[in-house]
Amino acid sequence: MSTRRKSIVAGNWKMNLDAAKARSLTEAIAAGAKQTGSVDLVLCPPALYATTVAAALGLAAGVAPSGVALGGQNAHDKESGAFTGEVAPGMLRDIGSRYCILGHSERRTLFGETDATVNAKVKAVLAAGLTPIVCVGESLAERESGRTEAVVTEQVLGSLAGIPADDLATIVVAYEPVWAIGTGKVATPQQAQDVHALVRALLGRLSSPTVADTIRIQYGGSVKPDNAAELAACPDIDGALVGGASLKADDFLAIAKAFG
Ligand code: 13P
Repeated sequence: MSTRRKSIVAGNWKMNLDAAKARSLTEAIAAGAKQTGSVDLVLCPPALYATTVAAALGLAAGVAPSGVALGGQNAHDKESGAFTGEVAPGMLRDIGSRYCILGHSERRTLFGETDATVNAKVKAVLAAGLTPIVCVGESLAERESGRTEAVVTEQVLGSLAGIPADDLATIVVAYEPVWAIGTGKVATPQQAQDVHALVRALLGRLSSPTVADTIRIQYGGSVKPDNAAELAACPDIDGALVGGASLKADDFLAIAKAFG
């Protein structure tokens, strides 16, 4: 955590919950949000429940009284058209979203997304006025073969190629080592900090060190209330992208508080 950057903690609900649970979880998080300190909070529900969450946040009135923002988990790179089953960035924006997760490792490994796909989506999401949360991270095999730096470098430079510095300054990057996602095996603070510092240096290469210094980099992968504080203490970790623990209001709020 840095005093220069406001931390951002986002809940990636993935393909979980139903409408009633999405509503009650949102209400519980919104009710506790004021106690989390100076941290941006974002909820990323399944697309089908985005309007439910928007309504529960009071986003229908244009402003969220709780300050909790809404985000998508994915978006298409086109504005509209014959793309059955897909969601356009403008649609997310239309219902009050401010963020969109892109290039999550589950999208990359299960749905064939490449750095080029992610890059096109980042551009589309920015054009729609949303803030992309761009995910990168190495697999266990890549880490064990000493390729973490090479893999993360390729993902950052590929996913963010051709993005002007002004836009880069607004994005969020999430470092999520694949081996830490849903496994309970969190990266050590030093492992995470090392990659975050690398990502910031790469962002500096794509823009300038001054711009890179303002960009928020989240850590994701088995973040829980009991490990959030040590991650938050690292100088280049500016928040968390939380999966499993974001489905419990108390856990999500405790993580937010660690970064607040
Ligand atoms: P877990 O917190 O369940 O490990 O998931 C992390 C994640 O993939 C968030 O995008």
